[in-house]
Amino acid sequence: MNEIQRIGIVGGGTMGHGIAHVSALAGCDVALYDVDEARVAAALAKVRSNLDKGVERGKVAPEERAAALLRLSGATRLEDLAECDLVIEAIPEKLEMKRQLFLALDAIVREGAILATNTSSLSIAAIAAGGRAPNRVIGTHFFNPVHIMALLEVVVYDGTAPSVLDHVLRWGARIGKETITVRDFPGFATSRLGVCLGMEAIRMVEQGVATAEDIDKAMVLGYRHPVGPLRLTDMVGLDVRLAIGEYLAKELQNPAFEPPALMRKLVGEGKLGQKSGEGFYRW
Ligand SMILES: NC(=O)c1ccc[n+]([C@@H]2O[C@H](COP(=O)([O-])OP(=O)(O)OC[C@H]3O[C@@H](n4cnc5c(N)ncnc54)[C@H](O)[C@@H]3O)[C@@H](O)[C@H]2O)c1
Repeated sequence: MNEIQRIGIVGGGTMGHGIAHVSALAGCDVALYDVDEARVAAALAKVRSNLDKGVERGKVAPEERAAALLRLSGATRLEDLAECDLVIEAIPEKLEMKRQLFLALDAIVREGAILATNTSSLSIAAIAAGGRAPNRVIGTHFFNPVHIMALLEVVVYDGTAPSVLDHVLRWGARIGKETITVRDFPGFATSRLGVCLGMEAIRMVEQGVATAEDIDKAMVLGYRHPVGPLRLTDMVGLDVRLAIGEYLAKELQNPAFEPPALMRKLVGEGKLGQKSGEGFYRW
């Protein structure tokens, strides 16, 4: 493979549609797969709407938007991703679900194709295990919203082939991201610090230290964080962060990551943050 050109995305939720957006805008052909037609259509509609906003704000030229949309297609069969150079998974943060998907993809994609996971915390080695060619597996951890955030955290485990890392770093630059390369360790370089702060902020709300608004204001104005930890938890999704917290508490043997009771309660009530309309804030 000379350059990564054909991209497959599995899961068109918060992250998947954003990865599709930046890939198509950078000139790649993108096939976006989700579990049913309605979800595929919703993901494609979100890409379209964000590209429209980009045009309105003068960030995207109208002809770039038109070209990106022509490169983007939907898929409801995993087999439709067979010819891709790179398939990126962005399905829920559940190890067994990702493992099953990687086994299925491994049997479908062509030799030399790269399989990447957008996991926030899970072991890349565990996701890669059992496939025909585990050395083609790598982590590509994007940040939300993908079309705005500059960082791509690339995660390699001991088995990742150096050529796979080279390809992904070059592709990351092509889609306009700054990359960092991190070892396969629970939570990598980003989630380990970010989720720790988020869990502590939730415990502070629980203990009545201050309101969510004021805790966020403290970090924004006092520490120059662009977004406070509670607003960020809303943006990521409380359910997503809860799963990451449970995993990191176990893997790192560190109770700081244990999801607080308030978080479990909100998730139980369907208050997942921005995507459901309410979390620590109303959206
Ligand atoms: N939300 C964030 O801010 C964020 C940031 C970085 C990384 N991540 C990671 O990205 C991944 C996806 O998170 P998200 O927030 O986009 O989740 P999400 O819940 O918004 O979207 C998940 C999508 O996957 C689809 N899906 C579920 N099971 C599937 C399957 N078996 N095959 C194909 N599609 C399936 C769902 O229909 C949904 O569209 C997770 O691993 C998460 O940890 C999330």
